[in-house]
Amino acid sequence: MFLVSVPATSANVGAGFDCLGLALSMRGNFTFKKIEDGFMIKGCEKAYCNEDNLVYVAFKKTVEAAKQSLFGVEITIDCDIPLKRGLGSSAACIVAGCVGANALLGFPFSKEQLFAICTEMEGHPDNVAPALFGGLTLSFMKENTPILVPYHIHKSLQFMAVVPNTTVSTEEARKILPKQLSYTDAVFNIGHCAAFLRGLETGDTQLIKSAFGDRLHEPYRKQLIPEYPLLEQLCRRFDALALLISGSGSTMLIISNETKNLKQIEQELSKVSDAACHHLKVEQEGALVKEI
Ligand code: HSE
Repeated sequence: MFLVSVPATSANVGAGFDCLGLALSMRGNFTFKKIEDGFMIKGCEKAYCNEDNLVYVAFKKTVEAAKQSLFGVEITIDCDIPLKRGLGSSAACIVAGCVGANALLGFPFSKEQLFAICTEMEGHPDNVAPALFGGLTLSFMKENTPILVPYHIHKSLQFMAVVPNTTVSTEEARKILPKQLSYTDAVFNIGHCAAFLRGLETGDTQLIKSAFGDRLHEPYRKQLIPEYPLLEQLCRRFDALALLISGSGSTMLIISNETKNLKQIEQELSKVSDAACHHLKVEQEGALVKEI
């Protein structure tokens, strides 16, 4: 029997739409036990305890990729990552299923091979990369193979995930994006993404402040998040370094180098919103697996 632990992730960091992701200190734990036959899923809502469960789908896909016959498995899910909030819950399920199957199969796949299987399932690598490898990762596709570039994050930086009650479906949030964009917006994102990465690496607060912002998805998706305008104001008032939409939302990620400022934002926000605030660190470890 194996225990697999996978971090929450925030994709689209800064101007890194579909490529820059960050692992955060919030985890989902999943156990995998061989059983005689069939499958059993425990620990999640009944509606998800069936063959379409993403953990089990990823499990089956990995067994298939290893060219082995499907065997019986009991999966237990204990996951703190909120669903449909842009914190990588689906990537965590996919990564867990792949890593759990790999463990029960005797580890035929390397982490890089698992990365390719997970990316194919998720459709984009920006959540599965940090979920598997931890830290801040830039990833992109090169001829159907996902490429991973790890980045460092300066230790002075702190993160607060503001998780509203409203959910956002990634599928819907992708549909509202325009089919084409202007050179001006593309150039804006290229420059901001590269500069933001340097800011995160060095902890240069001025650089982070000038380089955050995105024109590929945030202008369209912020309309789906009622708390966004207020949070934007509070971030300005309490001198946060950056405000980002995490993945496709609804979670918003605030970056600061002052715990006090984050607490003030949390306090003000709580007067008018029931959004949950999580003070998080960058999670340097990605998916972990151990025999229990
Ligand atoms: N990059 C993806 C998107 C992340 O923004 O649609 C969502 O999982």
